[in-house]
Amino acid sequence: MSTPVPIPKAELHIHIEGTLEPELAFELAERNGVRLPYATVDELRAAYSFSDLQSFLDLYYALMAVLRTERDFTDLADAYLARATAQGVRHAEIFFDPQAHAVRGVGMDVVVRGLAAALESAEERHGMTTRLILCFLRDRPADEALRTLEEARPYFNVISGVGLDSAEVGNPPEKFREVFATARDAGLHLVAHAGEEGPPAYVWQALDALGVERVDHGVRCMEDEALVERLRSERMPLTVCPFSNVRLRVVDRLEDHPLPRMLQAGLMVTVNSDDPAYFGGYAEDNMRGVRSALGLGEEDVRTLARNSVNAAFIDADRRAALL
Ligand code: HPA
Ligand code: ZN
Repeated sequence: MSTPVPIPKAELHIHIEGTLEPELAFELAERNGVRLPYATVDELRAAYSFSDLQSFLDLYYALMAVLRTERDFTDLADAYLARATAQGVRHAEIFFDPQAHAVRGVGMDVVVRGLAAALESAEERHGMTTRLILCFLRDRPADEALRTLEEARPYFNVISGVGLDSAEVGNPPEKFREVFATARDAGLHLVAHAGEEGPPAYVWQALDALGVERVDHGVRCMEDEALVERLRSERMPLTVCPFSNVRLRVVDRLEDHPLPRMLQAGLMVTVNSDDPAYFGGYAEDNMRGVRSALGLGEEDVRTLARNSVNAAFIDADRRAALL
């Protein structure tokens, strides 16, 4: 049986560090003389069993130790572009975590130049347009986020927006009110993870204290009827990541995922892979996963793909080309 052609779509929730496959991690470890606490690719893969967001983040940050040079970041992004293209991704908005590299002495210049070197030819090589979104680590102080934003200022020509990720509970969006206001004044787009492990109140704050244009995850909005109505009436995009939600135990099984209820409620949901090297699949894998586990039809899949293009930070011409 031939494999069906993946549906053309945009991917709006993808952490480039979360695309680091074990094989590339070992290759970079060797190249950079970094010792990994795992002997083999299989041993590393066996560690991908998570009980919650923090247990994943511990491994995610640890494995980043292999990313040291511009070329490492270029290789990482190139590998993602190739995989995403094969999965029908025609436009990708890519998160990166500069603070997680700065703590290891890898500066903004290395990270952004390395990533940009891969992305600048993505359209020519893959027909894929891309954006870069700088994420602040919400479990670090707000003033560090502000300094990080200032360090990135020379690169605002290649950075389209800012986001907020890492350990959610105990780190509410309002902690970053000032840094998001500064980013908005600089003309950057605004997104934030909210309502993944954190309560609906954090989604309200992302909207009202930060003024985000999209909510990353947002699945816990379903616990608050008034919030669902707010998100629906504003057509606020939610970048849902089904495999991630299962692996990080936000939901028990894919069959229990709230995605069908979110669609039914009229929410502008999109399907994304989050950290595909860790969670068992890329964009089309997630799309097919929800399709079969949740019994979504052709029309739902088309809606999800159309939503992804409509929620992307692209101009009208590119949007028309992708729809
Ligand atoms: N949530 C929060 N922080 C993250 C994630 C996530 O799903 N992936 C990478 N950093
Ligand atoms: Zn994420």
